[in-house]
Amino acid sequence: MAIIIAIANQKGGVGKTTTATNLAAAFALKKKRTLLIDLDPQANTTLTFFPLVEISHSVYDVLADHHMALADVVRPTPTPNLCLAPAKIALAKLEATLVGQFDAPYRLKDALAPCRDQFDIILIDTPPTLGLITVNALVASTHLLVPIQAAYYAMEGSDDLLDTLSRIRSRPNPDLKLLGVVITLFDKRTNLARDIQKQVCAVFGDKVFKTVVNKNVRLEESPAYKETIFTFAPDSSGAQDYERLAQEVLQRVE
Ligand SMILES: Nc1ncnc2c1ncn2[C@@H]1O[C@H](COP(=O)(O)OP(=O)(O)OP(=O)(O)O)[C@@H](O)[C@H]1O
Ligand SMILES: [Mg+2]
Repeated sequence: MAIIIAIANQKGGVGKTTTATNLAAAFALKKKRTLLIDLDPQANTTLTFFPLVEISHSVYDVLADHHMALADVVRPTPTPNLCLAPAKIALAKLEATLVGQFDAPYRLKDALAPCRDQFDIILIDTPPTLGLITVNALVASTHLLVPIQAAYYAMEGSDDLLDTLSRIRSRPNPDLKLLGVVITLFDKRTNLARDIQKQVCAVFGDKVFKTVVNKNVRLEESPAYKETIFTFAPDSSGAQDYERLAQEVLQRVE
């Protein structure tokens, strides 16, 4: 049975998508059968692999009605062992579509059930909100991984995220574990980045991964070339950081 990791932080631009795509690629390179689910209407994860015109059906079709299975939208990516369940902008209307449906928070969990034994690891990229889409991800997951950007106001909103985690644990998903917090966009030359790192460690203690993801322009460039960091710039610090993070994640879950 696959472990299912939601990558979430309602702050925008903290590295959720960069972490989801490159961590997924790192697991796939380690021969883990990996499924990456794009649960963000911005579809940035999907765009890292395919132009949107190539996507006919997406996770919206799976979550909005019960007639399409997740397996119908999952497709292989150019990275061996890595499959993608793509998103399209249509996902933005999911909340409106599911209003009043008693099973609204459980749609992804139900959709994943038949696929769980076909993968070792399932990663879910979420949008920068704590709305129904992110709730679906947290209800379906075994673990939560939180990227925190080493920037001013980094910790603002973390109370709301932890509050959501505890509410999800209290009812729909008592087994959900905080896998860890990863500091992203780290610039070791600045005092600010080191101060933020201390603040994050003071709050999250040993949940903070030893690996930090350094600022690396290659990580920013690679999606534009429809590549993960491991094919685009395998010798970059970005590739090394995500490879190390993947090792640390595997140590924590295995
Ligand atoms: N370690 C890094 N070094 C340099 N650039 C990075 C790094 N991580 C992310 N970026 C860039 O920062 C921007 C935001 O990253 P990303 O899209 O991963 O954040 P996000 O949390 O998914 O954003 P959103 O909340 O909008 O979904 C992107 O342009 C990305 O390429
Ligand atoms: Mg994103």
